[in-house]
Amino acid sequence: MRLDRFVANTTAESRQSIRRKISEGRVSVGGEVTRQFDVEIDQFVRIELDGRVLQEKVAYYFMLNKPVGYLSATSDPQYKVVLELFEETYRSELHLAGRLDRNTSGLMLLTNDGRWSRKITEPGEKIPKTYLVKTEKPVTQEYVDLFAAGMYFPYEDVHIQPAQLEILDAHLSRLTIYEGRYHQVKRMYGRLRNKVVALHRERMGHIALDRELVAGDYRPLTAAEVASV
Ligand code: URA
Repeated sequence: MRLDRFVANTTAESRQSIRRKISEGRVSVGGEVTRQFDVEIDQFVRIELDGRVLQEKVAYYFMLNKPVGYLSATSDPQYKVVLELFEETYRSELHLAGRLDRNTSGLMLLTNDGRWSRKITEPGEKIPKTYLVKTEKPVTQEYVDLFAAGMYFPYEDVHIQPAQLEILDAHLSRLTIYEGRYHQVKRMYGRLRNKVVALHRERMGHIALDRELVAGDYRPLTAAEVASV
């Protein structure tokens, strides 16, 4: 939003009056006086008028090691939700940057910065997501070739990107995909009539799940992790 509009909205003064105050050097953005009324302002920058704080919002970015059994939702009448794992102070502010099924564990990202989370969740962004996949039946080279060719999902009428599969042992594989379609991993293995019995997300883009985090724990992202998105 533009500075003059934001200050006018917040103070309920006219845009003209606010522009005058800005030109008089009475407004600061991020601690610096600005006389330019049409600058675009970030939702997390501190804004003051005559020394009165109009905006001071802290951006939060967390990684969570989601335990099995929790819904990727902010509230639910039936199931426990991942937001319950966070301290009360963050709960009302955070939203999920991507989801996992209730019986999937591992890396989830949560933030109050909508612009940042959109860079992760928008389909065009093609952020790689890596999963450890345990299956009922053995995984063979046929899977590697099928996934590498890119698959067609008739329900959505989309071709998904070629995916990389590494076979770790007969029933354990590591898969990297570039979208987040509904039950995507389970449907990919399902194509070869194999059932996913455990699914764990290890990585999203450059952000890897911290091995120190036990299931249910979370930690703030480092500045480098935030900037990597
Ligand atoms: N694919 C799935 O099938 N489930 C998940 O939770 C994530 C990806």
